[in-house]
Amino acid sequence: MRIVVGVTGGIAAYKTVQLVRLLVTDGHDVHVIPTENALRFVGAPTWEAISRNPVTTSVHDDVPRVRHVALGQAADLVVIAPATAHTLAKMAAGLADDLLGTTLLATTAPVVVAPAMHTEMWRHPATRANIETLRKRGVRVVGPDSGRLTGDDSGPGRMVEPERLKDELDGLLRPAAVAPGPAGNDLEGMRVVVSAGGTREPIDPVRYIGNRSSGRQGVALALAAADRGAEVTLLAAHVEEGVLTEAHAHPRIQVQPAGTATELGEGVRTAAGDADVVVMAAAVADYRVAEVSETKLTKDSAPGGGLELRLVENEDILAGLARDRRAGQTIVGFAAETVASDEELVERARRKRERKGADLLAANAVGWSAGFETPDNAVVVVDARGEVVARAGGTKREVAEAVLDAIAAVRAGA
Ligand code: CTP
Repeated sequence: MRIVVGVTGGIAAYKTVQLVRLLVTDGHDVHVIPTENALRFVGAPTWEAISRNPVTTSVHDDVPRVRHVALGQAADLVVIAPATAHTLAKMAAGLADDLLGTTLLATTAPVVVAPAMHTEMWRHPATRANIETLRKRGVRVVGPDSGRLTGDDSGPGRMVEPERLKDELDGLLRPAAVAPGPAGNDLEGMRVVVSAGGTREPIDPVRYIGNRSSGRQGVALALAAADRGAEVTLLAAHVEEGVLTEAHAHPRIQVQPAGTATELGEGVRTAAGDADVVVMAAAVADYRVAEVSETKLTKDSAPGGGLELRLVENEDILAGLARDRRAGQTIVGFAAETVASDEELVERARRKRERKGADLLAANAVGWSAGFETPDNAVVVVDARGEVVARAGGTKREVAEAVLDAIAAVRAGA
């Protein structure tokens, strides 16, 4: 595939070197178009060496081959990484004052942007409006991630890691790059409900009990199912900033927000009414605060130096779905377990699947540093006979595809 990588003036340009490297390693013909400002961060020799193609920023170079439009016309995919606030504004307005601008106007290929900027700039109404405009035009927005930024600040604005961006690009390239296999559109006509993220149980108007789920695995499942032809309802509890962007843009995904376990339960049950498959990937709080305070709790609320909160159990949504399932409906659970060995993980997965009555349960090992807030995951999937029907490791998208394969196999009676 011929891929144009536009690089604009942000420090995250160094991450794009790795992206280009990954794409070239996969055999793609990569053409880098840096802006003048991008060259202040990473110079042309680096881009030429890594991409193995000449690099220019000027519309006046290589005029006989009409380079200012030729690259865009011939591209199968254009990705802008990092995409600064300024570049997003230029793209939204259709400005073409440099080679990247003319290329973007000349291309009919899918365009992906990976924004990178400080949190204030990302949240500015002008940037929000530009992103909205681009999204409506079909541009895919990947990220930004939340985390440490260039200065002392942190928040949403970090460019996504190159591996994750590559993963997204692979997803876009797949249909054209690979001959349509059995999985191509194998979920067409199917209605799939996916829950994702972590519920938040309020304590008072400003505090809550939450968990570390980023929502990435659930959203990856929704995207994978939709790309395979399913109509997807994605019930999103709290997810990390940027994780939902692509799902919002997907024509076959309907995103519905859900805050607490109770709200999530209501949303999932309603959506499950006519669903063929329900996947509970959300991290649902087992307990909620019995009496939510209408006013902010202060230290005076708990004289004596301690605060006791009484918690009451939330309904088990998955168990309820499994109990009430219609004929032909497939109910799938997820479980994050702290375990010492693979055997223990499989054993816990078996017991949990049985306790909940789900058709399949995908379990992954977690710890202080594993399983959360990362692009990667590893799961074992057990079925109603207690057998391990799938094992998958890799990006959350790859894990999602494997879980969907297992679901398709169960539904086919395999
Ligand atoms: N789940 C649910 N409703 C709840 C709790 C969990 O639907 N109130 C679902 C999750 O979405 C997930 C599966 O059940 O698909 C397993 O979640 P987990 O938290 O591991 O289950 P628990 O029953 O809370 O198990 P444990 O006692 O190990 O915490």
